Amino acid sequence: MNGDQITIKVNGKEISGVKGDTILEVASRNGIDIPHLCYHPKISKTGACRLCMVKVNGTMIKASCTEPATDGMDVVSEDKEMTEIRKGVLEMLLSEGDHNCLNCDWSGDCELQGYCNKYDVELRNSDFPKNVRQKDFVSSKALKRDENKCILCGRCVKACSEIQVMNVWDFTGRGSHARLTSDVEAKIGESTCVACGTCVQLCPTGALSFQQVLGRGQSWDLKKESSICIYCGVGCKIDFYTNKEGQLVKAMGHNDGPNEGHLCVKGRFGFDFVQGDKRITSPLIKKDGKFEEATWDEALDLVAKKFTEIRNTKGPDAIMAFSSAKCTNEENYLHQKFMRSVVGTNNVDHCARL
Ligand code: SF4
Ligand code: SF4
Ligand code: SF4
Ligand code: FES
Repeated sequence: MNGDQITIKVNGKEISGVKGDTILEVASRNGIDIPHLCYHPKISKTGACRLCMVKVNGTMIKASCTEPATDGMDVVSEDKEMTEIRKGVLEMLLSEGDHNCLNCDWSGDCELQGYCNKYDVELRNSDFPKNVRQKDFVSSKALKRDENKCILCGRCVKACSEIQVMNVWDFTGRGSHARLTSDVEAKIGESTCVACGTCVQLCPTGALSFQQVLGRGQSWDLKKESSICIYCGVGCKIDFYTNKEGQLVKAMGHNDGPNEGHLCVKGRFGFDFVQGDKRITSPLIKKDGKFEEATWDEALDLVAKKFTEIRNTKGPDAIMAFSSAKCTNEENYLHQKFMRSVVGTNNVDHCARL
C-alpha cells in the first residue's frame, strides 16, 4: 500500500481510495452509489443539496460529496436513519416547486424523480399555486426553462462557468427568496447564452430542457444511438435520440469521445436538416438550365468526363480540389491521393487551413 492509499468501510464493506478523495468519490469508484444531486464529476463540488448525507464513525452526519475520506473511516450510507434523513431532504427540495411529472418532458430521465421513487416520496405537488415562478418556454430557440422544477443545486451555474465559460447562470436572493437567474434577470433567449446545452445536460431535473424535444416524445419512448458529429474535425461523440416516429429529437454529449460529454451549438442542435423536407437526397444534373434528378452512376460519369476533358485540354493543374473537416481522416486522405495520383496535380487544400 503506498502512502497515498487509504481504506475506508462503507456499509460494512472495506474499500480503498486515495488521500484527498471525498467519501462519495471513493464509494462511487468502488461501485457504491451514494445518492447525490448537486454533485457531478464534471464540475467542482458544491455541497448544496444535502442528499448525499452519510453517517461517519457512528455519530456524525456529513455531506459525502465534500467530506474528505480518511484512513479507517466507518461510513454508513443506507440504514433506517439515513433513509429518513434522505426522505426529509427530498421533501425539502420539492417543497417550493411544482413537480407534476405528468407535465414534465424530463420525466423518466430525471434524477430527482428517480430518487423520489426510490425513497417513496410523493412527487406531485399540485396544491402549490401554478405559475408562481417563471416559466420561459419561448425566448430561446434552443432552451426552455421552468423555475418551478428548479432545486437550486447549482449544476447549471457551474456547467456554464466551468465548462462552457460563459457565466450565464447565477443565483439571486437569499434564503427562501433564492432563485436562479440568467444574466441579471434577462430571459434566457436574451442573455449571452451560446446555446451549447451543457447546463441542460447536467441539470438533474426538468427545470432546464431542450425546445426540440417539446411535444415530440417522452424519455421512455426515445431510442438512443451513438454517432459522431458531422460538423467539424473534433469528431465529438453524440448520443442521438429518436422518437417513435423515427424523428431525431435530442442530442446528448457522450462521455467516451474527445468531447468528454460536451457539445457546441452545432452538434447539440444542428441535426434537424436530416429530416428537413428541402434536403437533396439524389444527384441533380443541369439540363437546358434546369436541374433534373439523376442516378449516382450518371452523375459520377459526367464528373469523370468533364475532369478528363479539362485535364486533356488544359493540363492537370487546371483542376483543384478542396476538402472538408466534415469528412473523416480516411476520406481526406483518399481525396488528396486521388488528386495527386489520378488527376496528377498537387492542387489540394482543406477548409480547416482557412
Ligand atoms: S423535474 Fe423531475 S421530479 Fe420534477 S416534475 Fe419533472 S420529472 Fe418530475
Ligand atoms: S446553453 Fe451553454 S452557454 Fe447557454 S446557459 Fe447553458 S451552459 Fe451556458
Ligand atoms: S436549473 Fe437545474 S441545474 Fe440549475 S439549479 Fe435548477 S435544478 Fe439545478
Ligand atoms: S450531492 Fe452532496 S450536498 Fe449535494
